[in-house]
Amino acid sequence: MAKAKTAYVCSDCGADFPRWMGQCGECHAWNTISEVRLAAAPSARSVRDGYAGAVAAQVQTLASVDLSELPRFSSGFAEFDRVLGGGIVPGSATLIGGNPGAGKSTLLLQTMCHMANHMGAIYVTGEESLQQVAMRAKRLYLPTDKLKMLSETNVETICTLALKEQPKIMVVDSIQVMHMADIQSAPGSVSQVRESAAYLTRFAKQHQIAILMVGHVTKDGSLAGPKVLEHCVDCSVLLDGSADSRYRTLRGHKNRFGAVNELGIFAMTGQGLKEVNNPSAIFLSRAEEHAAGSVVMVIWEGTRPLLVELQALVDQSPLGNPRRVAVGLDQNRLNMLLAVLHRHGGLQMADQDVFVNVVGGVKVTETSADLTLLMSLVSSFKNRALPEDMVVFGEVGLSGEIRPVPNGLERISEAAKHGFSRAIVPYGNRPKQPIEGMKVDAVKTLAEALELL
Ligand code: TYD
Ligand code: MG
Repeated sequence: MAKAKTAYVCSDCGADFPRWMGQCGECHAWNTISEVRLAAAPSARSVRDGYAGAVAAQVQTLASVDLSELPRFSSGFAEFDRVLGGGIVPGSATLIGGNPGAGKSTLLLQTMCHMANHMGAIYVTGEESLQQVAMRAKRLYLPTDKLKMLSETNVETICTLALKEQPKIMVVDSIQVMHMADIQSAPGSVSQVRESAAYLTRFAKQHQIAILMVGHVTKDGSLAGPKVLEHCVDCSVLLDGSADSRYRTLRGHKNRFGAVNELGIFAMTGQGLKEVNNPSAIFLSRAEEHAAGSVVMVIWEGTRPLLVELQALVDQSPLGNPRRVAVGLDQNRLNMLLAVLHRHGGLQMADQDVFVNVVGGVKVTETSADLTLLMSLVSSFKNRALPEDMVVFGEVGLSGEIRPVPNGLERISEAAKHGFSRAIVPYGNRPKQPIEGMKVDAVKTLAEALELL
């Protein structure tokens, strides 16, 4: 028997090495490299079964490539389609990642029951029994007569059966329980996950079957996380949200067919996942009394604005080393902005504990939250509530200048649509024409902004 080929692969970044090392040379993570057995050349059995990937390759010019694009499939959820860049591309491989209990199986079951009405669809479940899936579908009142189900964990068997059924779309739930006969290690190991995903991706391309794979993300990293998988799939999306919160966000991380960083928002209800059409409304708190330290910002998510409330609490610290806690925001950014506030706003918070929180569990990565954050800090520090109908956005530079952010006008219009009537925005984002029902204050420096309070 030929000697099995092995490689050493980092489970975090997926880099290959010829020998084992304690630290990954690419991403510098420790103890993430493990031995991976590569699949042998297609066995005689798989050739006989008809799937060997034996398509004769041809060299051609770029101009002669067939451009007739197949129409994308709609998943039945506008939010899901948008995150994928306008629907599922035929013959593509997509990875849906997320913590256990995020709702991946629920989302895909709902999607597949909908899609089965228009095209051949197979749902392969390796984690739950067919009865469990059927019970869930019944509880969610989903149409169950068209969707084909398969309970199987061997990738080669799945592909052989799929070839007979010729579906247009197939779900594999989950990639961590899949295994290939040629590989010795246990299901869930880096080698099995990597090779299974690569095999399924090749299969999707060759037979024009769109495959959606579920991938679990684990904290301890003992399973192969989707980081390794991201290299081989076309799209990778992450369903995020703790089991105790009602809302789930779906975010694109890699997309060969469209933009990434689109955000889709769902609510987990008794009847499964429902898409949220007006996400701004849910992230604005409905507190009766407007409190100090609470300011609404307008962030930009993918192709649309989102209104989110930011809360800050600044309080006398009993500790020698006051705490700085940021939930949903970058901690370093908070420290930097506190320094800017001291230097250019003349407010010293060195003896204060500072807590900031983005309401609704949204993660803000944008710099447009800078000015909002400073306003909420000052509001809490002075214990003075800001007007309820005001929104604030803008990037703050290290010399205290307020810099413009992209899509300023759309942000202001979105706020006006939700009944806000005042806005503090960067001078560079001031609207050319007045916006009805909206009083806009354009500021150039932090000092100007603080004066407005
Ligand atoms: P599931 O899709 O099984 O998660 P995953 O496949 O990502 O591990 O979803 C499980 C969670 O969703 C579970 O904690 C209960 C919740 N849930 C509801 O709240 N309502 C529902 O209608 C369904 C089906 C699930
Ligand atoms: Mg599941």
